[in-house]
Amino acid sequence: MQTTITNVTVIGSGTMGNGICHVFAQSGFNVSMMDIKQEALDRAIATIGKNMDRQVAKGSLSEEAKQQALGRIATFTDMAEAVKNADLVVEAATENVDLKLNIFRQLDALCPADCILASNTSSISITKIASVTKRADKVIGMHFMNPVPVMKLVEVINGYGTSAAVTRLIYDMSEKLGKVPCVANDYPGFVANRILMPMINEAIITLQEGVAGVAEIDTIMKLGMAHPMGPLQLADFIGLDTCLSILNVLHSGIGNPKYAPATLLVNMVQAGYLGAKSGEGFYKYTAGSKDLVVSPMFSKKEW
Ligand code: CAA
Repeated sequence: MQTTITNVTVIGSGTMGNGICHVFAQSGFNVSMMDIKQEALDRAIATIGKNMDRQVAKGSLSEEAKQQALGRIATFTDMAEAVKNADLVVEAATENVDLKLNIFRQLDALCPADCILASNTSSISITKIASVTKRADKVIGMHFMNPVPVMKLVEVINGYGTSAAVTRLIYDMSEKLGKVPCVANDYPGFVANRILMPMINEAIITLQEGVAGVAEIDTIMKLGMAHPMGPLQLADFIGLDTCLSILNVLHSGIGNPKYAPATLLVNMVQAGYLGAKSGEGFYKYTAGSKDLVVSPMFSKKEW
């Protein structure tokens, strides 16, 4: 059994993947970042550099520490190469069951026997993911929050077969990343999204039923409940397709109609309005602008 973690491979270089690489590299781990396209890896390295620059600008990271951290990240398009010396793999691919099962089958075949396999899934069963490997005791959920360098939480999820020693190791290692780990059991949506997504869904239903507009719903939740973002802005930030896929996991996994995704959410995803990443969701996004502009679809005032 693995007792120390030095070499970490992150599968996927999107928003979550590059954020996870960022915090591991900054905390002194050797990081291998793997994606299928070199352009995606190049973009991710540029993003990590830019996000580290923010920390340098506010004095929480020195320029020298930034350079050292960037120097600890190697990029790979070949999975076998990326994982051959890994002590821990953190998978941060798209939230799609078949894709994740396929990746874990390959990881199980390619990784050293002692290597721990973690998934950053936001809702897919860790037990199901572990079932396609021959090392269920070493498969665990490590659910980071976006933006990873800023958010303190890591939701650590035990699958049915995860060994207590692996949970302890991942818990302690999360603290070394400067995070606060919280352990949850494997159940649809775990804790974070079981509670967050029904709130977001309710905000969408509130909009759909014409109770209030986008800005009003978000302002009420921001100022009334001291949330940093309103639920509709947060949905755009997470990605409406991701919100829909998590709600589908909750709905089918728990079987309670209260988790059924809002029709408006389903329609928006089908129409390609995915939030910040597609340029439009409940708000319209313009590159380089921080202004929050309600999407023309929802900006008509009726009162
Ligand atoms: N890397 C490094 N630093 C970053 C960063 C990044 N990617 N993004 C923001 N920051 C830093 C900024 O530099 C800034 O630092 P200082 O305050 O020290 O100057 C700070 O974070 C705040 O950023 P901004 O000033 O740009 O903007 P803001 O004050 O509006 O905060 C926010 C932005 C941190 C995203 C804040 O709006 C927030 O906390 N929103 C809620 C985020 C949230 O709920 N995340 C969880 C989503 S759910 C999820 O991830 C899991 C899932 O399964 C769906």
